[in-house]
Amino acid sequence: MAKQPKIMIAGTGHFLPEQRMTNQDFEKIMDTSDEWITKMVGIKERRIIGDSGLSTSDMATAAGKAAIEDAGLTAEDIDAIIVATVTPDMNFPSTAIFVQKNLGAKNAAAFDVSAACTGWIYGMTLAEGMIASGKFKNILVIGAEFLTSLTDYTDRGTAVLFGDGSGAVVVKPSEDEKGMMGSYIKSNGDLAELLWSYGGGTHKNKKVTDQEKMVDESGIDKRSIIKMEGNKVYKYAVRAMIESAEKAMEDAEITEEDIDILIPHQANLRIIDAIAKRVNVSDDKVIRNLQYLGNTSSASIPIALDQARKEGKVKDGDTLLVAAFGGGFTWGGLVIKM
Ligand code: UT7
Repeated sequence: MAKQPKIMIAGTGHFLPEQRMTNQDFEKIMDTSDEWITKMVGIKERRIIGDSGLSTSDMATAAGKAAIEDAGLTAEDIDAIIVATVTPDMNFPSTAIFVQKNLGAKNAAAFDVSAACTGWIYGMTLAEGMIASGKFKNILVIGAEFLTSLTDYTDRGTAVLFGDGSGAVVVKPSEDEKGMMGSYIKSNGDLAELLWSYGGGTHKNKKVTDQEKMVDESGIDKRSIIKMEGNKVYKYAVRAMIESAEKAMEDAEITEEDIDILIPHQANLRIIDAIAKRVNVSDDKVIRNLQYLGNTSSASIPIALDQARKEGKVKDGDTLLVAAFGGGFTWGGLVIKM
């Protein structure tokens, strides 16, 4: 007998910028090929903010508005807004504050969560605790990323991976067996330097002279771009996402046979396939949008969830398993009955 969930998903939404960047576009600016990217990662194109002038909070607002409408609520019904992002509009106030302003969600408390690609799962876990406290009813949990603002277009090992976008859900107290049945979050700070963008903050671990060297001959500030040791990240990501899936199922007191749909973080098709194989979920039950969106970090799971619901791939009553991994390292998983 599975546990009674504390929160359920009342609505979903997402937003994608219109401009596309294809593998062929990358072939024109760096030494790469459609063949390599397709084989090694699985991406064909990504959506990018480009010259649209949009910010992270603009994308977060659009996804949040769609989720609130889908839930049959108004912005004033929202008591809290959590935005998971590593590409905030500015140091402070939070990106969530601008979402509150844009939506007119005047009854909400708004703040950001920074847990890289696992950010939305961290946000959902926080929302569960807030609703369980009895002090909050409707919470908007958004993942929104303007990753191309941190992309180094001289580094073929990372540039081809990322895209921009946002996804959102509204959660509310669960009324029956539907809702978030299990969760798990974890991190390992010892591995921060394998995937990071260390510019912009107040860290004091580098001497000024070292920092000056971080601006290269072409003027690119190496401190505020994504640096990744892809191979080490890859290996850890597979293990950590499997652990997340297993721990979330354990927390939900369910087994692999109970899973109807798997929505993994969209970073690499080979990672997605490895997770699916390990948790015994057949190919037709795995949601993938990486091919045409790239890695949108904290936005990838809520975007995929909204798309899958609207396409009828996720139906009422389905049990979803989601798992993510990202910079930090951070990782985590959820089991949600829709
Ligand atoms: O969302 C957060 C978590 N992020 C991830 O999960 C990403 C995990 N990492 C990965 O997905 C993989 O590490 C990548 C797909 C990014 C790279 O695959 P890899 O097998 O780790 O390749 P590598 O970095 O070891 O590079 C292998 C070769 C190198 O060439 P040499 O030195 O063997 O001649 C790279 O220079 O592939 C080369 N390479 C490329 N070639 C063409 C790297 N990037 C590219 C590229 N096009 N875009």
